[in-house]
Amino acid sequence: MSDKKTLVLSAFLLCASVTSVWTFVEELDDSLLDTREENDVWLIKFYAPWCSFCKQLDPVWHQIGSELRSSGSHVNVGKCDATASLVLAKEFKVRGYPAILMWKKDVKYNYLGARTKEGIIEFVDRVSGPLIRPLTSMELFQHALSRHDVVFVYVGASSPLKGVYSAAAQDLIISTFFFSASRDVLPKTVTLSSLPAVVVFKDGTYYSYNEVSDGELKAWINRERFLNYMKVDSYTLYAMGESGKLVLLAVLDDTQQSLRYKSLIQEVAQNYKDIYSRNIYFGFMEGNQYINGLIMGELSLPAIVMLNLSTDSYFLPLRPVDTERHLLDFVDGVLDGSVQSQGGNTITQQIRRLIYESKATLLARFGSEDDEDDGKESWCHRKIPNKKSD
Ligand SMILES: *[C@@H]1O[C@H](CO)[C@@H](O)[C@H](O)[C@H]1NC(C)=O
Repeated sequence: MSDKKTLVLSAFLLCASVTSVWTFVEELDDSLLDTREENDVWLIKFYAPWCSFCKQLDPVWHQIGSELRSSGSHVNVGKCDATASLVLAKEFKVRGYPAILMWKKDVKYNYLGARTKEGIIEFVDRVSGPLIRPLTSMELFQHALSRHDVVFVYVGASSPLKGVYSAAAQDLIISTFFFSASRDVLPKTVTLSSLPAVVVFKDGTYYSYNEVSDGELKAWINRERFLNYMKVDSYTLYAMGESGKLVLLAVLDDTQQSLRYKSLIQEVAQNYKDIYSRNIYFGFMEGNQYINGLIMGELSLPAIVMLNLSTDSYFLPLRPVDTERHLLDFVDGVLDGSVQSQGGNTITQQIRRLIYESKATLLARFGSEDDEDDGKESWCHRKIPNKKSD
């Protein structure tokens, strides 16, 4: 056989094996709008043929399809070329690729997390199940605590607050689980000043929602849905922007000093939780890729940096940080305004662009210039992520 023939044959075999591999994932088009049954639940990836981020997701999508199928899930997995099925894409308000959505009853849920199998399957589990999961025994409560880092629980009988909690859950189920329980299911050590209550269990402790000091329930949940101290990636950092809290980060390389910074931040997060947890998230991030976009320069590593994501401004310590005391001085300096902020709104685009360039995340907003073919380039450089669009 000539080389050319061999090539053609192997290309054919490759195609054949690829198609057989996709049987767990249905190729969808506009007709879904007519054929879908009311109780069907769909997980759909909208893609564009030219989009490399979409191609990267293909193997993960197949794994998700096969895993959901083999676990007996009722969730159907599909993919849809959004550039060909315009009606369906419009129905789902697809503005960027890949867009990952779930469709349950009349509601579409947008996935905004890391494009990993684990992340997406957890999302499917959350969204396809009950909006609020009753924890009917102490065992179930403990089980929830062991499985999830952050656990929101409505405690008490039905009330107007429960309605507000349900409404918040409808919007935020894409980000976190919602539970309910009666008082006697919670440990005796948990003290609640009144019932009903909404409580978040995290960081080895719990916080109750206080309508007077915490503002709207949904905003409070959005603010409290991360651990006090955690490893932060670009997706998390972006999502933390909505919390309104400052973020204190150790930005790491592989030096000894890095570990020192990381443990200093962890110590302060742990030991001064009561003082700072309302205003500050703590964490560490590997590499300065994202942060460099923020400061528009090269942050020398390792580093300690405080970010104000509402304005995209940042703060750097004025003096070397060697002890917990130094770090506390820096934190207090930021809070009392004696440490000057740098950066600010004018660099919003740069940060967001940078987050994109590092293949981070999210939806790209597509403007009218999108018909052009250099999708990947314009996706990276011209589109502005907009996770609030729905
Ligand atoms: C962070 O930005 C917000 C929004 O402008 C501002 O209200 C807040 O005071 C800033 N926080 C600090 C510590 O500078």
